[in-house]
Amino acid sequence: MSAVSVRDVTVAFEAFRVFDGLSLDIEEGEFIVLLGPSGCGKSTLLNAIAGLLDVSSGQIWIGGRNVTWEEPKDRGIAMVFQSYALYPRMSVRQNMSFGLKMAKTPKAEIARRVHQAAELLQISHLLDRRPDQLSGGQRQRVAIGRALVRDAAVFLFDEPLSNLDAKLRNELRVEIKRLHARLGKTTMVYVTHDQIEAMTLADRIVVLKEQKVQQIGSPDEIYRRPANLFVAGFVGSPQMNFIKGRIEGSGTGPEFVSGQRRLPLAEYRFVSKPRPGQQVVLGVRPEHLEIAEAGTWPGFKIDIVEPMGADMVIWCSDGEGSIQVRTHGSRRATPGTPLTLGVDVGQVSLFSAETGERI
Ligand SMILES: Nc1ncnc2c1ncn2[C@@H]1O[C@H](COP(=O)(O)OP(=O)(O)OP(=O)(O)O)[C@@H](O)[C@H]1O
Ligand SMILES: [Mg+2]
Repeated sequence: MSAVSVRDVTVAFEAFRVFDGLSLDIEEGEFIVLLGPSGCGKSTLLNAIAGLLDVSSGQIWIGGRNVTWEEPKDRGIAMVFQSYALYPRMSVRQNMSFGLKMAKTPKAEIARRVHQAAELLQISHLLDRRPDQLSGGQRQRVAIGRALVRDAAVFLFDEPLSNLDAKLRNELRVEIKRLHARLGKTTMVYVTHDQIEAMTLADRIVVLKEQKVQQIGSPDEIYRRPANLFVAGFVGSPQMNFIKGRIEGSGTGPEFVSGQRRLPLAEYRFVSKPRPGQQVVLGVRPEHLEIAEAGTWPGFKIDIVEPMGADMVIWCSDGEGSIQVRTHGSRRATPGTPLTLGVDVGQVSLFSAETGERI
């Protein structure tokens, strides 16, 4: 039984239809991330699961029950938003207790759960403060704590970290991951536009663009075998290199050709049969290129070097366009130096130039 099952769901905002029959099964204990740029429909999908908006067709099942027409509070979910949505006049303890009090939970039980959640989130020393006496990171911990005390089987997060500065975001991201591991069977659905958050947190990522699912897969699948050009470009930093070219047939098998650059594709795992002459885009991640003595593509020169501490990005060109290579930060690299690039065909992706789909 799935923890959450979205069945053939369409949401309509008057004439504007979103998702058009989206189905998604989320397993118990799974950490699912909905990833995509602004406006792609992440919050809409999350709100449909939560019951904060009505679906116009299809069903939502949670914990084996059809909850399509149930109120949010009856769905067995807990939600955390980007804007912490805390009650300003209540203390942290009151904020965390409020929902349980409304549900007429016995006082001792409320105290026990608040205590436990506060310990877990390391906010026990803040229980008597008001939200305006807390930092952003502390407020978000309280918001998570308020969700935690509800003992829900499913947690829904809508960009919970995007109001925080970079350092705090990294810290809290790890905390959320730890929390998920500790809670064991709790299912989490997490919305973000940050591909690093998605890659680090998710068991599976759902990549969305313009209210359509582009790919569903583990972070590894999404990263190594992106289903189309959009997914390939959205995930990964620095970005995947895209090189336009065509497929040529030869005695030993198909070959990718782009000006002077050639790459034999005998070892490439095609998902559809390539046509000789087909226009394609080759995708290579910067860390999958090697700076070699003798390699696949000679005749490059270093343009610009971007040191990033542990890593370094080298921009190089061969007169046909610029390519980024990611290498060790300790390497010596001087603009103007000639170099040859080694390309491992086992690490590249090929897309149809026409449709953008992986081939
Ligand atoms: N109440 C509404 N009426 C009409 N259109 C809406 C409504 N709510 C959302 N939309 C549209 O639906 C699409 C998806 O919106 P949604 O809020 O789900 O995006 P999102 O992926 O969460 O974006 P963001 O990252 O900016 O929060 C957008 O094009 C938006 O304009
Ligand atoms: Mg949103």
